[in-house]
This record gives sequence, structure tokens and C-alpha cells, in this order.
Amino acid sequence: MTIEPYDSGDLPEHKPRRSDVDPKAAKRAERQVGFLFIASGLASAAFIVAYIVTPVDKEMPLPGFGSTNASNLLLGITMGLALFLIGAAAIHWAKKLMPDVEVVQERSPESSEAEHRDALLDEYRRGIDESGVKRRPFILGSMAAALGLAGLPAVVLLRDLGPLPADALTKTMWERGMHILIAETEQKIRPEDMQVGTLISAVPEGIDLVMEEAGNLNELAKSAVMLIRMDPAEIVADQTPEGKEPWSYEGILCFSKICTHVGCPLGLYEQLTHHMLCPCHQSTFDLADAGNVIFGPSSRSLPQLAITVDEDGYLIAREGFAEPVGPSFWERG
Ligand code: FES
Repeated sequence: MTIEPYDSGDLPEHKPRRSDVDPKAAKRAERQVGFLFIASGLASAAFIVAYIVTPVDKEMPLPGFGSTNASNLLLGITMGLALFLIGAAAIHWAKKLMPDVEVVQERSPESSEAEHRDALLDEYRRGIDESGVKRRPFILGSMAAALGLAGLPAVVLLRDLGPLPADALTKTMWERGMHILIAETEQKIRPEDMQVGTLISAVPEGIDLVMEEAGNLNELAKSAVMLIRMDPAEIVADQTPEGKEPWSYEGILCFSKICTHVGCPLGLYEQLTHHMLCPCHQSTFDLADAGNVIFGPSSRSLPQLAITVDEDGYLIAREGFAEPVGPSFWERG
């Protein structure tokens, strides 16, 4: 389908732009567009530099507004500039160099017949020719560079997701021989300190040092356990694998305190039934029966920590946890 020039009738005659009649003006406009794209690329690069070198907590004065976070301000300015300059270049390109003719385009029937599709393709190709993209490699190159660089800040920002977790999701700090401490007082525990029916929230020995070094509560959140003492005759089953030393000690069992649904801390213990209820969504675990789920949305029993006593009679971990603690996106082997 060809597009016929529009007969403007009584309307003022359409005047060509300077860049339509003056090759020098067209060349100048081409350079301007290219430089706008290049400036956008430089702004994207400045964003990356600002992201790397500006400390996240640095404040800078902002006249009339007191002070503001330097990192946010610089990232906002550079990112805004990069996007603005791409838009400005595209508009300048369209206004100065794209075809400037008034035409009437006839509406075709809605069904798209083969001949119309071919015509559309011809039109598309003609548009590319007329836009001068092929004749203006400088614009094309600078635009490609600007658009490519504009996406880079998003890639750099992935760094804010933090370091790769390595085995942080599957391991806790529990290890063979580590003392089990009362969470409140960080004292070691002897089996005789616990009466039948007692539940104690506990943490691994050295948790205070780890928290001091790491500066966060992640390890504490993962390593929190609870000790429960019950009459050995009431224990239906624990998670001791066949042929291994028992994971419980004289009726004392140790389970992760982290719910296997979405990770709330457990604590509502029914002494008579040995049921542990999660306050978040009511998953219920039977601690006398290997920590199995008997109600609620959780799909995985509570991981059990194998325990024993050291030569001084204090409770210690026999091994680390045999499986990841916490939410049950983990599959048991
Ligand atoms: S977190 Fe425990 S039931 Fe949902």
C-alpha cells in the first residue's frame, strides 16, 4: 500500500524543515542526536561509579532541605539523567530527521489479508529506509550503546541482594561436642537440671561470639532449639537412624525451635500430649513421635538434634543437624 501526499486544500502549505533542505543542518542534527545518546551512556556509567564509591550512609548538605543521603541523591540524578537523555535524543531525532510529510492513510478492512500483510511489511521496510537508520550509523551505534548501558545499572543493583548464601541455608552452627546452653542465662545444662515435663529454650555454646562477629541474628534464628524431657516410656519414636546411637538422652529430646512451615519460633507446648503448637498458623508437632506433623499447613517434621553428655555430665550435641532447619521448601532425601 502506498501513502499518497495529503492535499491540504485551504490549509497553509506545509513547509519543509531546515534539515530537509540543508544537508549541513541534517548532519548537525544527526550529531546532536548522537551526542545526546552518548551523554546518556555516560550518565549510566556515572550511576555505576556513584553506586560503587558512595557509602550508603553518607549524608550531604542539600541547600534549603538540610541534608540528604548522598548515595540516593547521586543514583537518582544519574539514573534520571540517563533515561531523560535517551528520551530527548529520540524526540530530537523524530523532530529533525524523521520523515516530515502530511499524508492520508486509508483505513483497510479489519481482516488482514495476505496482500495487506505484504503491504505492511513493505511499509515497514520503507519506514526503516526513510528513517535513515542505515545511512546514519553514528546515531544507530550511539543509540545501541545508550540503550545497552541503560540496562547495566539494573545488573549492578543485583549486588544489593547480598552475598551468595553458600551453605548458610542448609547448615547451622551446631557441631559435634558443642554444649547446649539455656537461652536466657547461657548456662550449661545437666540432665538432672530438667524434670520430666520441662521444656527449655536453648542455644549453642559460642552463639554470643558468633553474633558479635556477624553483627546479626541469623545464626541465633537458625540455631535455636528446645530441650524437652519426658518419661522415656512415653517416647513413641525419635529420628535416630537405624544402627546409630540414640539421638535422645534419658528421655531428653532436642528439636529445632523453628517451625517447618514458614519459620515462626515455636513455644506453645502441651505437656500432657507432648504436642507443640506453632502460634502462626497452628501447625502441630508431636514431640513424642519424632516431631511429626499432626495438624496444620507444615509438611515436614521438626528436625531433631542428636544429643548426649560430655565427661562432666553436661548436655552436648552428638552431631550437627542432619537436615536443614526451617521452612519446608527442603525435600527430605
Ligand atoms: S509458621 Fe508455623 S504453622 Fe506457619
